[in-house]
Amino acid sequence: MARSHVLITSVLPDAGMTVLKKHFRVTSPEENQPFDRQGMIDRLKDAKGLICMLSDRIDREIFEQGSKLKVIANYAVGYNNIDIDEATSRGIAVANTPDVLTNTTADLTFALILGISRRIVEADSFVRSGAFSGWSPKLMLGTDIYGKTIGIIGFGRIGQAVAQRAKGFGMHILYYEPEPKSYAIERTFEAFYCDLALLLSEADFVSVHVPLNDETYHMISDREFSRMKPSAFLINVARGPVVDEKALIRALTNGIIAGCALDVYEHEPAVTGELIAMKNTVLVPHIGSATAQTRDRMAVMVAESMVSVLVRDECPVHIVNPQIYPS
Ligand code: NAP
Ligand code: GLV
Ligand code: GLV
Repeated sequence: MARSHVLITSVLPDAGMTVLKKHFRVTSPEENQPFDRQGMIDRLKDAKGLICMLSDRIDREIFEQGSKLKVIANYAVGYNNIDIDEATSRGIAVANTPDVLTNTTADLTFALILGISRRIVEADSFVRSGAFSGWSPKLMLGTDIYGKTIGIIGFGRIGQAVAQRAKGFGMHILYYEPEPKSYAIERTFEAFYCDLALLLSEADFVSVHVPLNDETYHMISDREFSRMKPSAFLINVARGPVVDEKALIRALTNGIIAGCALDVYEHEPAVTGELIAMKNTVLVPHIGSATAQTRDRMAVMVAESMVSVLVRDECPVHIVNPQIYPS
């Protein structure tokens, strides 16, 4: 039987490419030269599988061009870049990469918490510039993490993994979601449920871990910043548009909050100039899941999703729209 065609918009780690090449006719770009939108459209014609990145917008036009598609696997856990309703209406399975990146992303969240509170980036620049002339009682004073309160917005896989780390650091943990989690989960993490207004007013670190959707777009804006302590930090490792970036800049400029550490940006990859100019920001380039081990696991997972649908005619393990499979 002829091998199915699978299109990938960026080169994946070998662990995933090996699985794919065993089963499929694979089209992938050169290293570091991802297919742009037109490049993807030009190659979609006979593709039955598409592996896309979170930066690829998968909308009606893509579905129309890829009329043979049976499965799309997003090389990410967040899938706000894909029109899921459109995929579902066409009977296309959409898969993502949950779980394998949870701890890695929670680690990065903590790196940002430590980075902003202990001024690591600023301190590193200070040493490199040759300015370090000796220990001093007031040099680069930061803020404790121990004994402080973290407010976790979105208490799913990553939110809970952040709580686990926060517990180890001796922090108090508040969380907010539309509905409280079970008592067993709350007890495991020693986390207390509260409404968003209370979380914002109590937390020294507000960390966002919700998916981006219509409800969470600009969930953190002027009103939310005005509730935060002037000493508080905002951490965003979720999706840029969850935070109103203009309101964030107003809050930082006017001393409404103390600082922020961001992995994601509202208009990614553009980063607003004001954020770059400020000292009380730590800015990293969407590297939440970026470890060699985790990227290998994600690559195998998206490859397995292709195999499930196109070779075994089965539902992928990590499916976003299970309703396309009659139970
Ligand atoms: P998850 O397990 O689905 O957790 C998301 C949590 O947010 C769920 O518990 C969900 O509750 C809750 N939630 C949904 N809507 C909410 C709202 N309006 N207010 C408060 N809470 C709400 O997902 P995850 O695996 O932890 O990933 C979370 C997000 O992190 C992803 O969607 C992705 O965008 C982002 N992410 C970023 C990176 C990075 O590199 N920066 C890496 C990985 C993930 P319900 O379950 O009740 O809906
Ligand atoms: C990364 O941002 C992801 O959603 O996996
Ligand atoms: C600092 O280096 C200390 O010993 O307290």
